[in-house]
Amino acid sequence: MTQPTQCLSLPSEQDEDSSSQAVSSDFQNDVVAGLSQERKSIPCKYLYDQRGSQLFDAICRTPEYYPTRTEIALLNEHAQEIADLMGAGAHLIEFGSGSSLKVRILLDAAPGLASYVPVDISHDHLMQAAAAIAKDYPKLKVLPVTADFTQPSKLPDATRSGHKVGFFPGSTIGNFTGAEASAFLQNAAKLLGPGGGLLIGADLKKDPAILNAAYNDKAGVTSSFSLNLLRRINREIGGTFDPSRFQHEATYNAERGRIEIFLVSRDLQDVRVNGHTFNFESGERIHIENSHKYEIGEFQSLARRAGFSPQKAWVDDKNLFSVHYLEVTPL
Ligand code: AVI
Repeated sequence: MTQPTQCLSLPSEQDEDSSSQAVSSDFQNDVVAGLSQERKSIPCKYLYDQRGSQLFDAICRTPEYYPTRTEIALLNEHAQEIADLMGAGAHLIEFGSGSSLKVRILLDAAPGLASYVPVDISHDHLMQAAAAIAKDYPKLKVLPVTADFTQPSKLPDATRSGHKVGFFPGSTIGNFTGAEASAFLQNAAKLLGPGGGLLIGADLKKDPAILNAAYNDKAGVTSSFSLNLLRRINREIGGTFDPSRFQHEATYNAERGRIEIFLVSRDLQDVRVNGHTFNFESGERIHIENSHKYEIGEFQSLARRAGFSPQKAWVDDKNLFSVHYLEVTPL
């Protein structure tokens, strides 16, 4: 889910180098700016370096973190109905496609797709995942696009004819602020265009005990995932954080309908990042992530305001997670 500068064409090696320098200087600027605020914070996109992505995969396998396995079960259970809603001959556009794993459920259920367009900022990982899909689905046209999926971007010319269906699983939309979620949906509606659809996962509001357990797993994987951000700062931009002097804290804020995640300083300390010194009181927090939870109606209202007409929402029998099919509202 890394989201540096937008890059619409497939970059050459030179482009890759300059784009990773841009990431590093964005990273440095964002960390210094975030730690200089009265309430310290660092954008959650920086949690996902290579180690962070591995740790996130490990979170998805913990017994407490229900979203991944529940969403996969919903996609499997309703694959045929989803394929029927997508319609024959659609171009399937996956936003933030990563390893392109969940999409295989849709590719198996909808063999008549016109193309599969995985969109991801992480060029090398995207190319590997696209090659694996092309190998396993030899009849499918696979058209990878290296781009920041949160920004308006251009799709391959081949998707101009026929209708487009977006796929945005995992409740990644929950990590956006309300304004960012609206902007993402508005961009998606514009990009998918008339006749388009969007299949999107959204985590549901529920008993806070279930939510708190999911973000504080007993094995401490989520804690390692959060603390990895400090290791990344040390490694990439010369920070002097001692991760053992911070602790992971995740709690559900019922008023705001979201899990809020912080790194909490265990004592009074100074940390340097690239020539800047930051003081921490004992118990002072760095905000690193929000994960918003949506009731079905709440999510559908958000989607309506952004230019979609909700068609169907599937929910598991424990009311843990939802998958929505939305259609672009005709103008
Ligand atoms: C990627 N995203 C949907 C996860 C979530 O549940 O908000 C990120 C995460 N952070 C800690 N655990 C999971």
